[in-house]
Amino acid sequence: MKLVKLLANLGYGSRKEVQRMIKSGAVTDDEGHVLGEGNLPPHEKIRIRGEELDPPSPLTLILNKPDGYTCSTDDAGDTIYDLLPTRFACRNPGLNPIGRLDKDTTGLLLLTDDGKLLHRIIHPKSHCLKVYHAVLDRPLEGHEAGLFASGELLLNGETKPLLPAGFEALSEKEALITLHEGRYHQVRRMFAAAGNHVLQLKRLSIGGLQLPAELEEGEWRELRPEELEAVFEKP
Ligand code: URA
Repeated sequence: MKLVKLLANLGYGSRKEVQRMIKSGAVTDDEGHVLGEGNLPPHEKIRIRGEELDPPSPLTLILNKPDGYTCSTDDAGDTIYDLLPTRFACRNPGLNPIGRLDKDTTGLLLLTDDGKLLHRIIHPKSHCLKVYHAVLDRPLEGHEAGLFASGELLLNGETKPLLPAGFEALSEKEALITLHEGRYHQVRRMFAAAGNHVLQLKRLSIGGLQLPAELEEGEWRELRPEELEAVFEKP
């Protein structure tokens, strides 16, 4: 790959903008030698105005999603990409959420530019279970565990019943839900089918990966290799 293409793919600008940046001498190696379009030292040795480059592809991030942010690139309001460096929304390949969360759902969200990894994690056959904490409007009635575990629950407008889902009541109006799949507004629609309403929803884990306690709402970082392995482990 050429230097111009590498930097443009990392979102540092259009090819023209990157060419101008290189001509201005802003792109150097780690010893301060100015790089030209024909140079391509190893990724970790390239600097832009003295700063290390963003990580190369494949890149996977972990984010503690706050309330009020959509998992979309083209929403008029706040999006999860507003929480990342501006460049990250312009990367090629692009960073996509692994299983979207609703605007008002919080918690564990992974983003990746690795399409194969994304499909591996979201495919029900991978058994990467997702656990959600739900706060409800009305007291639980006691029929929820059976209804959700039945494998027969048909959501409004759908023809295929839901796979059996796990349910654990935590208090009168709080529960943990474990899903094998990720349908549109699934947890909210499951509770609607049970005659209740979800007030708050937070994703706590994917597979054996828990939302790290030190990751504050709105914070993100690169996913560590051992954390990626945990995604495929049974919780
Ligand atoms: N189920 C929902 O209803 N919403 C989410 O964001 C995730 C799962």
